Amino acid sequence: MSQVLRNRGRWRVMPRTRQRRPDGRPLGDRFLRPGERPSERRPVVTDDHQPVMVDEVLHFLQPRPGGVYIDGTIGAGGHAEAILNAVGGRATVIGVDRDPQALVRAGFNLKEYGSAVRLVRATFEDPVWIAHSQDVDRVDGILLDLGMSSMQVDDTKRGFSFRGEGPLDMRMDPDGALTAADVVNTYGESDLVRVLRTFGEERHARRIARAIVAARRKAPLRTTVELATICEDAYPAGSRIHPARRTFQALRIEVNGELDALERVLRAAPDVLRGGGRIVVLSYHSLEDRLTKRIFDELAGPKPAMPGLPAPEGPSRVRVLTRGAVLPSDHEIERNPRASSARLRAAEAVQ
Ligand SMILES: C[S@@+](CC[C@H](N)C(=O)[O-])C[C@H]1O[C@@H](n2cnc3c(N)ncnc32)[C@H](O)[C@@H]1O
Repeated sequence: MSQVLRNRGRWRVMPRTRQRRPDGRPLGDRFLRPGERPSERRPVVTDDHQPVMVDEVLHFLQPRPGGVYIDGTIGAGGHAEAILNAVGGRATVIGVDRDPQALVRAGFNLKEYGSAVRLVRATFEDPVWIAHSQDVDRVDGILLDLGMSSMQVDDTKRGFSFRGEGPLDMRMDPDGALTAADVVNTYGESDLVRVLRTFGEERHARRIARAIVAARRKAPLRTTVELATICEDAYPAGSRIHPARRTFQALRIEVNGELDALERVLRAAPDVLRGGGRIVVLSYHSLEDRLTKRIFDELAGPKPAMPGLPAPEGPSRVRVLTRGAVLPSDHEIERNPRASSARLRAAEAVQ
């Protein structure tokens, strides 16, 4: 389907305008079903979320007719739609999300695929349970498109964005026990520093934590704008990024337990993938990408002491398919700036 090139040590997808179908026709901008004409297709891009690195995801996931795929982060269903289109609708996608609003949206966007799509409200942490809940033993692929969807960020009532006024919530699952307000108003100063450093890689964590503690002595913090203003006031002048960016990232990761969930699903993936089945992970910050790389390397088993020497004996549960992280093409970043921070890694289960 997609034509991926190695370019100066990096995987790059050939611009779609240069890609050709097997019969020599240009690939065009859309995935077509057998017998369809381009004008009849609605685009893979939905109004609410533009899926990222679709060609690369399909290249590494290699969906096949009859396959069963867990989309652990179904969101608006953009990637799920691309998977189904790639096989003419002849696969099953188990679409998982912890956000019930996302499931409603995915259900709407994917309704034409009928029973090929099964939606499950859950966290993706336990893919074995997810598969069993659908009477499936092994799956052919798992896709994780981490982080938030545009729907979540753009809805100021969810409190994810420092650019609009909303409650300090940040829960992807609205029934989750912990909100961002709980964290900023109840954690001790040293715990706040830890969260901001660990999950935000925030160099000014101490200053910001101190400012939060001073502000909440007057009144508990309630809104995103209050917190963003505290970050702005605490930050040294001349920062290249918005002073609240790393703090909001850190709180979101803490509130949703994001890195724990990622580690669990990566470790469990070989238990539910059939031999040769693939897992593809799209990360949007270095913490997720580094964790994915580390767990894939651990699951791949011991490496030779030096290149050329045989690898020591040891269990190998996956074969890593991406040597470095795969980056989006410049063309995609131009069309969809949200793709700019995306990093893709993929591995294949070894039987
Ligand atoms: C970037 S969006 C996915 C967009 C989707 N690929 C598409 O094309 O529309 C990430 C989604 O994953 C969900 N999510 C994040 N962490 C999750 C977890 N641990 N378990 C289940 N869903 C999660 C979020 O609620 C959000 O809807």
